This record gives sequence, C-alpha cells and structure tokens, in this order.
Amino acid sequence: MWPDRRLLDLFGIEHPIVLAPMASAMDWKMTVAVSEAGGLGSLPCAMLAYDKAREEVANIRARTEKPFNMNFFCHKPPSPDNAREASWRDRLKPYYDELGLDPNTAPPPPPRVPFNDEHCELIEELKPVVVSFHFGLPEPRLVKRVKAAGCKMISSATTAAEARWLEGQGADAVIAQGLEAGGHRGIFLSDDISTQPGTFALVPQVVDAVKAPVIAAGGIGDARGIAAAFALGAAGVQMGTAFLHCPESMISVQHREALADRPTRALHRQSPDPRAGADFRRAGLPERSRRGNAAQNGSREAGLRRLLVDVVGAGGGAGAGGSGRGTDADARGRGAGAVQGAERIIAARKRVLL
Ligand SMILES: Cc1cc2nc3c(=O)[nH]c(=O)nc-3n(C[C@H](O)[C@H](O)[C@H](O)COP(=O)(O)O)c2cc1C
Repeated sequence: MWPDRRLLDLFGIEHPIVLAPMASAMDWKMTVAVSEAGGLGSLPCAMLAYDKAREEVANIRARTEKPFNMNFFCHKPPSPDNAREASWRDRLKPYYDELGLDPNTAPPPPPRVPFNDEHCELIEELKPVVVSFHFGLPEPRLVKRVKAAGCKMISSATTAAEARWLEGQGADAVIAQGLEAGGHRGIFLSDDISTQPGTFALVPQVVDAVKAPVIAAGGIGDARGIAAAFALGAAGVQMGTAFLHCPESMISVQHREALADRPTRALHRQSPDPRAGADFRRAGLPERSRRGNAAQNGSREAGLRRLLVDVVGAGGGAGAGGSGRGTDADARGRGAGAVQGAERIIAARKRVLL
C-alpha cells in the first residue's frame, strides 16, 4: 500500500505513523494502542525514574509483542541561576495573585535527566526496537552502546544541517520537526529558533540533505497531512497533538476542551491555523475525548491552577506535559524566551478556560 516502505521495514511496523512521545501527557496505554494498531508506539522516558520506565515497558510487553520506541532527552542541563529564577517568578506573579496561589509552594518539577549510563543500561536490558532522542544525540560512546544493543536510533532535526549531523552520527532515520510541532523544539546545533522552517518547507530540505528515511513531524493531524508528507518525500510521520484527543491521553479535561474548541496551533504555538481544530471536529474526536478521563474533571479555575503549577514545574518554561508548546530554551530552563512562552500560553489558556 505505501509507496515508500523504508520506515516500515526499518521498524517492522504496518503503518508509517509514529506516535510522538509526549512526556507527562501519556503513558504505556497509548504506546500499546498505537503499536497494536500497526504504528510505532512511543514511550516518553525523559521524565521517568529508571524503575518507572522499566515498569512501563513491562506493562507494554504484557499487552503487545509489537515494536515500540523508548524516548529520551539529551539536552545540556542548565546551571542554577537564582537571578533568572527570581526574574521569571516575578514576571508571572500577577497570574498567581489572581488565583491566590503562591508560586514558591509549587511542587518540585519532575526530573529531566539527560540520557546517561543508567539509561543506557536500561536500553541494553530492555532492547526496544527503536530508541528516539530529542535535542540531538547522547555522547558517541553511549550512541555506540545503543546501536550495539540492536536498537534503531532516531532523533529530531529542526534544520537540514541538524539532519545531516544526525545522519553523520549514525541516526537510522531522521524526524524533520517543523515549526508547527507541539511540545519542545528539538533544536540543538543553534540557539537561533528563527532557523526552524515550517514542517512542509523543512521536509523536502531534509529529504534532500540525508539518505536516511525522513519522518515528518509538526501540525500533521489527518490523512491529508500524511499524504502531503509522503508527496514531499517523507517515509513516515510522527504525530503528537492529534493523539492528545484519544481516551488514552492523560491531559486534563480543560486541555482537551481547549484543543477541541480552539484551533490546535493557536493553543500550542500561537500561530493561527484554523484548519487544525476543524480536522479534529470533523473526525468527531473531541466527543470521544470528552468521554475519556472523567476522573480528571475539574473546574475551569482548577485548569488554570494546574497550568500555573505546570509552568512552575517547568522552571519558568511551558511544561511539555500538556501545557502546549515550549521551546528548546524551556527545556534547558533558560530565561526570557521561556517566560515569554509561558506568558503566551497562559494568555491563550485563560481565553479558553475563564
Ligand atoms: C504535549 C507534548 C509533549 C511532547 N513531549 C515530547 C517528548 O517528551 N519527547 C519528544 O521527543 N518529543 C516530544 N514532543 C514533540 C513531538 O515529538 C513531536 O515533535 C510533535 O508532537 C509533532 O507535532 P504535533 O504535535 O503537531 O503532531 C511533545 C509534543 C507534545 C504535543
């Protein structure tokens, strides 16, 4: 059926659709559902303790024998900077005051530990078919071990130069992550976020730049997007936001409603793309999503409170866990860009929630 079978053969899957790993927005249940359906389910491990990751994989393997992907970050952790911390807390203070919250009493953020020797031991023990990375790749000796364990290794590129770099370091496939993508921007060769083109401009550039199969990511929400990615030379797609509507998604009811009621891109990226939300409405997905996750029901105010806790948890950046689009700077906990991103997302969420 598929004109380009490279990705299917590489991963041993039936459909060229990769579930984007979405840290704190999903767990093994969504991984299993996508793998069982013939795509590549992914398990986001960047915010999991080692034992928790092992437990999640046990849950997956108890339910499917199909291939799946374990995903890790390999960012450079930021050095602590009290002035920067105080500055973003101060800037976001009015939002906390509005709801009578104290940002200083927020729970500590979940760990975001870059891929290390213990993670590598886990990979050697569990041997998933695919290991994916965000923010480049780990150091070469760890890359060597991942490949020696027999895993296929993939990572995100936000430019053609990053794609070439990843292939040069041994990536078996390259995810071309365009500007529209939800979650963290996987940029790693530069700090200049203006270098990242939109998905359908980036994909052909990456296809021309590397021999490895290319996986298109960012703003793809239905069959038309998949067909367009193939037309541009991609061998598959990685989709995240579209799956947040599924019953398996762990996002809050408020987040589901916001995704359903507003154009997805406007919520996640603040760039108007009226078609994205409409696609999901036509597919009837919001109705399904509303039925799911009843346990997470709560007031609108509770939704905003949760958002603020997410923002604190992310160290001033927009938490990838269901809060929408962060940036590379968010992941590294940098200052101004992260705070601006958080402010934009809070403003968008407030328009929906309150
Ligand atoms: C809520 C959320 C969390 C994400 N977390 C991760 C992650 O932990 N690791 C990762 O490699 N990518 C992560 N991403 C980015 C995805 O891999 C992918 O690039 C993106 O979802 C594609 O764009 P789309 O959401 O428009 O489909 C996340 C995306 C979202 C929406």
